[in-house]
Amino acid sequence: MSDIVEKVEEEAAESVEYAKPTNTSAGVREALAAIPIPEESVPDDTPDDGRTPIIHLDNVKVVFKTRTGSLLHPNKVVALKGSTIKLMPGETIGLVGESGCGKSTTANVMCGLQPVTEGKVYFEGKDVTKRTADDRKTIGRVLSVVFQDPATALNARMTIHDQLMDPLVVHNVGTPAEREQRILDLLGMVGLPTSCLQALPGQMSGGQRQRVAIARALSLEPKAIIADEPTSALDVSVRAQILNLLVDLKKELNLAMVFISHDIQTIRYISDRIIVMNKGVIVERGSSEQVFNHPKDPYTKLLLGAAPSLLHPDLGQENPM
Ligand SMILES: Nc1ncnc2c1ncn2[C@@H]1O[C@H](COP(=O)(O)OP(=O)(O)OP(=O)(O)O)[C@@H](O)[C@H]1O
Ligand SMILES: [Mg+2]
Repeated sequence: MSDIVEKVEEEAAESVEYAKPTNTSAGVREALAAIPIPEESVPDDTPDDGRTPIIHLDNVKVVFKTRTGSLLHPNKVVALKGSTIKLMPGETIGLVGESGCGKSTTANVMCGLQPVTEGKVYFEGKDVTKRTADDRKTIGRVLSVVFQDPATALNARMTIHDQLMDPLVVHNVGTPAEREQRILDLLGMVGLPTSCLQALPGQMSGGQRQRVAIARALSLEPKAIIADEPTSALDVSVRAQILNLLVDLKKELNLAMVFISHDIQTIRYISDRIIVMNKGVIVERGSSEQVFNHPKDPYTKLLLGAAPSLLHPDLGQENPM
């Protein structure tokens, strides 16, 4: 077992102790809900070292109109109330908060899947709030996404070889021979055997599929990866391996990363900086060390001591046993 997996497991074991006092209390969810939500997000604290952020969300607001309202009076959900986030080269930002606080919306704005209602989005210094087709192509080369369910990124009817070839062809990378070599390199990076090249995604395990999705995400040598719960749809037994892989790749390739997880220990381990969100507002931000060891905000304090089940959308109410 690698050091990284061991460390995550050790810290996870420690966290059980840490989480105990609040873990089983049925009142934690209500206690979190009772904490008033600030009007404004805490200001951005990204150190200015002269470098240009890969992505910069400037006071981004996202409002969804929901179907439950009438045509004239649609119900509105304010998913982000004014988020400013700068993702710097090589750094990992961890996003935490309860289900529905706006983590995926933030990730989707960053990768261009979600337009903003107000505010600006900059990509390597360029205003891309209203993305052109050219902007999309440039961003697609530099920024990749790893989804919770690898099926989102993979085509069920394409062989692994063809899935990995596709982005290289679309972006016109190298000669045909160089592309074949690149596919072999990618497989090596994510620890898959070449024998899987002719397989279809359905013939592989969940963990292997996520490895293929990660290989595909890396194919254009991105500078940044947005990973929205990349391990939570996987079998518990392979989660640590996939996390381990992401951490190794991040270091080797000096990738920037936005990492979303319901598992606080994973976030703690992988992130340089942490952003804590409560219903669309950033309530705390800082280095991983500062947020975990010296949280200032009452919501953060309660949240970081809570069990993953409180954060996880699928687990619902805790079992009193
Ligand atoms: N397409 C949509 N239409 C309407 N409302 C939406 C849409 N997408 C998200 N929302 C709402 O916006 C808010 C933020 O959702 P988001 O998916 O960003 O939360 P999240 O933090 O990722 O939650 P989870 O931990 O459950 O994944 C929620 O209230 C959600 O119901
Ligand atoms: Mg989400």
